[in-house]
Amino acid sequence: DYYALIMAGGVGSRFWPVSRTEYPKQFIDFFGVGKTLIQSTYERFLNICPPENIFIVTNEIYSDLIKQQLPLLTDNQILAEPLMRNTAPCIAYGSLKIAELNPNATIVVAPSDHTIANIDGFVDSIEQSLEAASKNDCLITLGIKPNRPDTGYGYIQHTDYVLNTDTDLHKVKTFTEKPNLELAKSFLQSGDFLWNAGIFIWSAKAILNAFEKHLPDMYEIFNVGRSELNKASEKEFINNAYLQCTNISIDFGIMEKAENVYVLPSDFGWSDLGTWASIYEMAEKDYVGNAVIPSEQVLMFDSSNCMVNVPKDKLVILQGLHDYIVVENNNMLMICPRNEEQKVKEFVAEVKSRF
Ligand code: GDD
Ligand code: MG
Repeated sequence: DYYALIMAGGVGSRFWPVSRTEYPKQFIDFFGVGKTLIQSTYERFLNICPPENIFIVTNEIYSDLIKQQLPLLTDNQILAEPLMRNTAPCIAYGSLKIAELNPNATIVVAPSDHTIANIDGFVDSIEQSLEAASKNDCLITLGIKPNRPDTGYGYIQHTDYVLNTDTDLHKVKTFTEKPNLELAKSFLQSGDFLWNAGIFIWSAKAILNAFEKHLPDMYEIFNVGRSELNKASEKEFINNAYLQCTNISIDFGIMEKAENVYVLPSDFGWSDLGTWASIYEMAEKDYVGNAVIPSEQVLMFDSSNCMVNVPKDKLVILQGLHDYIVVENNNMLMICPRNEEQKVKEFVAEVKSRF
């Protein structure tokens, strides 16, 4: 049986002031389509597995937001973490919970904050991988052809060896999580590297074996109390387990180390929206390159290549503005040249220290 585990506990500060700790990017409708990123993610998985097999792991501070945005989920499908410990504990918890319900589960683990343009292509890649993972002891990740030396992604170098001749799943040679710029440039030049999409497919058995081998302490912490999962005492057990867990991502903890890793080269218009530039790139633009969300009350004159994202009821007039980001949320307004958006981090720090 197929299951989906959606990771939704991250905080993003790069989209400040629209995305904040209390309201991270997965809960935002960046494109004005009437759906937030997590709602779109959930919908994509309805094409792949039954609704009762979709689980969300999130920090407990976001449980209410999840219930609001995904009202069809039952409480049992929302796994609340007491602390932020990165993606390895999140996946250990979710995988054990699912394995307790169904030891033969095959699971797709996915972030909640990506955009995917071609849903059919996405569903196809996931289904191929789920089928292979249900029959083989392997860890599968989806690989995207890189077009720039981005240092915010993991890089996968693969071999020509494929898992079963009827699949396009290539054995991974090296996995490098977030290289420095120099290394990223050399990866791009060499031509046989893909970006790790952060979407993983494996059987519950395969991932639990990998935890036991590569993160044995973490495995033990969760495994000793696995019978508590799906019981009234689950919360108490989990609170205790997280106190003992180290903070580590699945990429550093397992993917870099495991041997049985395969990658499916994929192309479905994927983006992990990391910057306003990536939103701008994906958004619909008018003929002079303005991406305006929402568009009803924003009037632009002699302005081009701007990214505008403001509350619905805001009346905005722009005259003679080119290549700027104009974003407002929660009574905070930021106006910044598009090519200086990396300063957002500094602005956030400054705002936090002053107000
Ligand atoms: N529940 C939970 N708890 N979710 C978390 C936590 C946590 O402590 N930390 C992060 N997440 C969620 C985020 O909300 C996001 O949906 C997903 O896990 C991935 O975390 P990110 O923090 O966004 O990871 P990343 O983007 O820096 O790197 C990963 O994804 C890249 C592709 O987007 C890595 O897998 C890279 O190798 C990969 O290229
Ligand atoms: Mg991410």
